[in-house]
Amino acid sequence: MNVLFFSSKVYDTEFFNQSNTRHKHTLNFLEVPLNRNTAVLAKGHEAVCIFVNDKANAEVLQLLAEQGVRLVALRCAGFNNVDLEAAQKLGIKVVRVPAYSPYSVAEHTLALILTLNRKTHRAYNRVKEGNFALNGLMGFDLHGKTVGLIGLGKIGLVTARILKGFGCRVLGYDVIKRDEFDEIGIEFTELPALYSESDIISLHCPLTPQTHHLINKESIASMKQGVMLINTSRGALIDTKAVIAALKTAHISYLGLDVYEEEADLFFEDLSDKVIQDDVFMRLLSFNNVLITGHQAFFTRNAMEGIASVTLQNISDFESGKMLANQIAN
Ligand SMILES: NC(=O)c1ccc[n+]([C@@H]2O[C@H](COP(=O)([O-])OP(=O)(O)OC[C@H]3O[C@@H](n4cnc5c(N)ncnc54)[C@H](O)[C@@H]3O)[C@@H](O)[C@H]2O)c1
Repeated sequence: MNVLFFSSKVYDTEFFNQSNTRHKHTLNFLEVPLNRNTAVLAKGHEAVCIFVNDKANAEVLQLLAEQGVRLVALRCAGFNNVDLEAAQKLGIKVVRVPAYSPYSVAEHTLALILTLNRKTHRAYNRVKEGNFALNGLMGFDLHGKTVGLIGLGKIGLVTARILKGFGCRVLGYDVIKRDEFDEIGIEFTELPALYSESDIISLHCPLTPQTHHLINKESIASMKQGVMLINTSRGALIDTKAVIAALKTAHISYLGLDVYEEEADLFFEDLSDKVIQDDVFMRLLSFNNVLITGHQAFFTRNAMEGIASVTLQNISDFESGKMLANQIAN
């Protein structure tokens, strides 16, 4: 099957070509993102493969359908960038990779927590310059701290297990209760109590209309003074301006982000010789207690192998008319 990749990078080409030896699809890789200007490039392809910041809204899907596209294969778990209703109307099927190494994202979450706490990023630069002073590097024991996890799915649960290993008290909130919560030792807690009792809050729920700006002026007001906030899920879970206001008053004392609401204009590209126009993002960067990575939590060899393997299997299943286990229903 002819498959056109949008927003592809060298690592996509490498992992997908390797995995494709078992499938023999024709894979064509484009670096440009999918949007209303690029959708026409899909002519001659029955499937397109897209990533987190490609825009598959109704207009783009209509253009894809006109080129003969019948399948949108997401090479990620989240699907908030696809208009599922429009896809259904156009007869385009949408598949995704619901699970691929939850360890990749959970472990990156811990990397952000530990770096913000023990300031290893600052220590690294100091030591490089022969500065061995400890002023400003003091952290706290993670052992005994209360961590609140919002969203206890695959990634949230792995994060909880790791935190239990550190000796943390783990509070968790989800819209669904599962037996595993007790087994891991997670205390199921409604949001108001989770906000008021947690020293660290980490987000692991999907972006939906219900979770959009879940972290806002009101929810921040009910959090502990000096809280650490971590988001490795989706940028728009957080109202960035409200978080900046709370950083300025030190109500939030640490912020770790792997995702950002307006990341589509920034992340995955080398902009080091450009002037970044996003003033909100630049304000975030100016705080020394804010640590930002550019949506790299998923980026491990294990996760990339899993993503390529499941995506190509999804495409093969579509081609051979099998039931699509990873289809996203509207
Ligand atoms: N930064 C990255 O590289 C990266 C990589 C993969 C996934 N993600 C993000 O992580 C999120 C979680 O991934 P996952 O694999 O654990 O997904 P998952 O579907 O296994 O778990 C999500 C959990 O959130 C819960 N949930 C849904 N609505 C909620 C709400 N309103 N409040 C609280 N909980 C709610 C669900 O019930 C589910 O248990 C994804 O949605 C995606 O946005 C980020």
